[in-house]
Amino acid sequence: MNFAASAPFPLSRPRRLRYSATLRLMVAETSLSARQLILPLFVRPGKKERRPILSMPGVFQLSIDELIKEATQAVEAGVPAVILFGIPPHKDIRARGAYSPKGIVQQAVRALKKALPDLLVVTDVCLCEYMSHGHCGLVHEGPRGPAVANDPSLTLLAKTAVSHAEAGADVIAPSDMMDGRVAAIRRSLDAEGFQDLPIMSYAVKFASAFYGPFREAAESAPQFGDRRSYQMDPANTNEGLREAALDIQEGADILLVKPALAYLDVIHRVKSTFGYPTAAYAVSGEFSMIKAAASKGWLDERAATLEALLSIRRAGADLIITYSAVEAARWLKG
Ligand code: PBG
Repeated sequence: MNFAASAPFPLSRPRRLRYSATLRLMVAETSLSARQLILPLFVRPGKKERRPILSMPGVFQLSIDELIKEATQAVEAGVPAVILFGIPPHKDIRARGAYSPKGIVQQAVRALKKALPDLLVVTDVCLCEYMSHGHCGLVHEGPRGPAVANDPSLTLLAKTAVSHAEAGADVIAPSDMMDGRVAAIRRSLDAEGFQDLPIMSYAVKFASAFYGPFREAAESAPQFGDRRSYQMDPANTNEGLREAALDIQEGADILLVKPALAYLDVIHRVKSTFGYPTAAYAVSGEFSMIKAAASKGWLDERAATLEALLSIRRAGADLIITYSAVEAARWLKG
């Protein structure tokens, strides 16, 4: 549309209409509401445990009893969904804790679905929290030293997804970025009778510095090397679209872009190219930045948080995973 050629109104008239608050809400092009938010929760073994994560004020590693309290508050605030990350009692080089039927996430899902049947429970499927070396897949000795082995990792990821489904998970969200994992997970879920269980694929996941605080939270920092062999180069967008197209072919139901704020253009292109339900993950670093600046009085926390979330919606995200979900839901109500 050629905006310059239109608008024959007298110039003395303000171009921006002075809407009343009511009219502004009625014509707003973008809306943000609690029902679009997903709260990430970290679950660890024990009882009455609430271990603060220093780089993420207000976020804790929770034992299952405390997890239920936290999830209850989320539900009361109007947040419909949580995504679970596990901190297992032991880590090893085969990530056994990830797919054990008695694993920490499997126990947590069972307890959550029992206590809060209407809460949508999404599980993050990855191996990094369960691997002693902190990588998202199996590590083999390659010609140039240790390297992540893509294909052998798929079996373990699919096993993990099935164990989450058996525990009662409502949505499976693979975040490892191994090639072919959506197909492997879909096949295993279907074979076990979970044909209707949706997959929210971390389709476009960048190798980002903004994951720093999460790695403290989930105790999953890689012990050697980095994740650039399986996560994407922040310089690339077309590559992200190819990744998303592959995930659709493999059976993804919802596409996720991560991080969010520094990748709004990618969210927009993923949504406009495929028209799929699209989610964005406002990651730990995005949360910590606002918290840190707000604690110094440099930013208005509420306004900055809601503006960032609204911008992610404006870019095209239908759903937002955010550590601010409960606070935002309360602010939106108030
Ligand atoms: C696991 C995973 C990561 C995040 C979610 N799932 C970290 C990573 O890739 O290192 C990051 C979330 C956040 O920073 O909030 N692979």
